[in-house]
Amino acid sequence: MSENLEKKTEQRRWAMHALTQVLSNQRMLDEALGDVPPAQRAWVHEVVAGALRCKGRLDWIIDQLSLKKRPSGGLRKALLIAAYQLLNQPSVPQAWIVSETVDWVRGKEGEAAAKFVNALLRRISDHVESWRTIEWPDSSTESAQAQWASLPEWIWRRIVRDHGREWAKSFAVASLERPSFWIRSRQPIEGALQGPLEDSWNLDSWRPVQDTAEYSAGGLFVQDISSQLLIDEFTEEAKRIFGGLDGLGVLDLCAAPGGKSSGLAWNGWKVLATDRQADTPNSRARFELLLQTSERINRGRIGPGRIEVLDRKNIESLPLQDAVWVDAPCTGSGLLRRHPEIRWIKDEKTLVSLQREQAELLREAATKVRPGGLLMFTVCSVLRSDELESAVHHARLEEFEKVREWSLSPHLEPRGDGFSGVLLRRRSAQSA
Ligand SMILES: C[S@@+](CC[C@H](N)C(=O)[O-])C[C@H]1O[C@@H](n2cnc3c(N)ncnc32)[C@H](O)[C@@H]1O
Repeated sequence: MSENLEKKTEQRRWAMHALTQVLSNQRMLDEALGDVPPAQRAWVHEVVAGALRCKGRLDWIIDQLSLKKRPSGGLRKALLIAAYQLLNQPSVPQAWIVSETVDWVRGKEGEAAAKFVNALLRRISDHVESWRTIEWPDSSTESAQAQWASLPEWIWRRIVRDHGREWAKSFAVASLERPSFWIRSRQPIEGALQGPLEDSWNLDSWRPVQDTAEYSAGGLFVQDISSQLLIDEFTEEAKRIFGGLDGLGVLDLCAAPGGKSSGLAWNGWKVLATDRQADTPNSRARFELLLQTSERINRGRIGPGRIEVLDRKNIESLPLQDAVWVDAPCTGSGLLRRHPEIRWIKDEKTLVSLQREQAELLREAATKVRPGGLLMFTVCSVLRSDELESAVHHARLEEFEKVREWSLSPHLEPRGDGFSGVLLRRRSAQSA
């Protein structure tokens, strides 16, 4: 086998491994990519993340062309990857994609399966343009619409209920795109375009900025534009309400790995950050990342703001705060471009436990806000009535009034992650 062919077979093997880990073992893609050798990771990430984003539509194409013999298991996964490549990697010769996949399938599943895959992929490659644009289904069934949207039916149904069908269609189409990357830096970033906010920079594809000296020195950090916007607007509201930010502190109750805390410190807040400290490897790793992030950001001396990380158990005895932010655990339905696997591994049942967790966190956070202080609640989700509104309702925050709300989505300016958020203010002692 030539060296080049060997490398390609190896890449496809790792792509199949990562896709199987996500779809069959419900692992997050980033975690599954950790198994992949670094030299293969970028290629594997591109094809697996792409296949996951477009899976609903690719499944539909595969089923249209399979007639009675609907493929499953490894065969379907190999077809998903190849179909994604045929429709989205115009610079790769189509014949290579077909022959590599056919060889791979022959090795795993035998000659009959290889022939089937060859015929099916050739039918896609013969009409690439027409498969690339899939018309909105005439059929009005929710399952057909969800497949067009490349979403599981339960997410599709809930988004339509919350926002209406046209909004949901635009959201779904925008969520099929590759995500772009946003950085916050006082200095220009080579090759990046200046974004709509002060110090925001946009890269259209990922670059390992973590390997740069500026990053290690805390002079910049990676943060999606929606989070940057929420932090800036929260800060503006606080300045308006309190007449400035001097000496003001905010408790970031769900802070790991430290994205929002970094942005808040960047904007001049004195941040107290904490997160769950459960006895699990995932929880420990997240808390460790929070510690590393805060060290790096404090090293950067980016302004008067800084981050102090607190043990979760010390929150109970903490005095009342000017502001508390709860960036709660949620379905992540606003992150479908960046974490495309979320569509297929989260299930409707998780909503119930999430809603309870969100309301509990919000209720706890409310006890830490001083009279006249602010309570910010955000979820990276577009399921407003299931997450944001349900949490606020169940937390029964009688002492608070609404200041402002946000509903961000990848199809709306500034086209970042989807977020739902609400800013509440505790009535002051006089007005209570
Ligand atoms: C959406 S993430 C936070 C992201 C973070 N704010 C950022 O911008 O980088 C939600 C976080 O809530 C944390 N969490 C879940 N239950 C918690 C609890 N009871 N107390 C504190 N944090 C909790 C999770 O560990 C997770 O890190």
